[in-house]
Amino acid sequence: MHLPWCARKCPYCDFNSYRTPDKINERAYVGALLRDLDQDMPRVWGRRIMSIFLGGGTPSLFVPESIDALLSGLRARLPFDADTEVTLEANPGTVDTARFLGFREAGVNRLSIGVQSFEPAKLKLLGRIHGREQALRAVEAARAAGFGNLNLDLMFGLPQQSLAQALADLETAIGLAPDHLSLYQLTIEPNTVFWAKPPPLPDDDSLWETQQQLQALLAQTGYRQYEVSAYARAGKRCRHNLNYWQFGDYLGIGAGAHAKISDPQGITRLFKVKKPNAYVTKAGTPAGIAGEQRLSPQDAVIEFMMNALRLTDGFPTHLFQERTGLPLSLVIPSLRAAVAKGLLSWDTKTIQASALGSRLLNDLLGLFLRAEDAELEHIPATGVRTVTTEAS
Ligand SMILES: C[S@@+](CC[C@H](N)C(=O)[O-])C[C@H]1O[C@@H](n2cnc3c(N)ncnc32)[C@H](O)[C@@H]1O
Ligand code: SF4
Repeated sequence: MHLPWCARKCPYCDFNSYRTPDKINERAYVGALLRDLDQDMPRVWGRRIMSIFLGGGTPSLFVPESIDALLSGLRARLPFDADTEVTLEANPGTVDTARFLGFREAGVNRLSIGVQSFEPAKLKLLGRIHGREQALRAVEAARAAGFGNLNLDLMFGLPQQSLAQALADLETAIGLAPDHLSLYQLTIEPNTVFWAKPPPLPDDDSLWETQQQLQALLAQTGYRQYEVSAYARAGKRCRHNLNYWQFGDYLGIGAGAHAKISDPQGITRLFKVKKPNAYVTKAGTPAGIAGEQRLSPQDAVIEFMMNALRLTDGFPTHLFQERTGLPLSLVIPSLRAAVAKGLLSWDTKTIQASALGSRLLNDLLGLFLRAEDAELEHIPATGVRTVTTEAS
């Protein structure tokens, strides 16, 4: 569920997020989210909710009463698993213990705090609204509010960041004993301030060295990597993100949110109207859906591999057929080619990118782009392939 506002737009960020208007009409937005969900419900009759991710933007800008109204509305509409994971993304500049307590009482049981760095100069460069102390206090406040499942987002490869600085950030994070760490290399995205005015970044060799050392430190301190950027203590992998990487289904509720839903005829992607004001007006009506696309077999193969090959332990062979509806025989030539190039291991039960394959993920995926085209062309893309896209 996407909540698209932030106190300020960070210069590196291309998420669908907008500077907060003077006052967000939270009630109107929550109403729109529930209307949007009502419209999607027939697509998921009979299914249970195993995880909810309140992402953004900065959902922690919303008052706990709004999050409570949203989660109560969800509970009234769809059955939850007994242990449904409910994550809320929080910016350290927007929270305190009372607010966190309110979120917990509303049903949030996992917090993801966007720290990025603990170094004051880097936080400033990144345009963050918080300093080091506020980040430390946010983690304290989360624990004081009783959260037993906590993720911290950190970035490395920051402008003029040395190896020692990146290690110091990670050491501070580990010292706070989060259950999960998301460690992202800063990327320069189109349509951001950093794209227009690129800051001086570390070169590829030092980035590689930094990544190796950060990974070694995480391994020594009990955090196991399970995806390109995700590390967790035992039992604390993010159920929600794992579902994406295992090419499971999900609804996408909110401005610019997108969904993936399978039915016996195939896989559909659904895109919601992007701009918050238009979304609030249109949500719950056909005009709230900006686009709908039936995946072709080629798309399904490549999207499955793009997600599942990010997982450090790979995926069980049967998952391919289960999630794409396609026979494994279609990708056997590609799998063999990838094994021959040392990019993949395949022991009949599990398919897994090798260390080299993880490093050269795009090359590995390229093998799935071409090799099956001839065979896949004979499989019809079921249903309509309509796309109505909104000008962004
Ligand atoms: C929606 S934000 C998290 C919550 C909140 N908005 C915040 O920033 O504190 C998701 C995360 O994506 C990561 N991120 C955003 N833009 C990025 C970029 N260009 N490169 C690497 N990581 C990025 C940041 O670590 C950020 O915390
Ligand atoms: S990084 Fe987070 S706070 Fe910054 S603009 Fe993006 S979503 Fe908003």
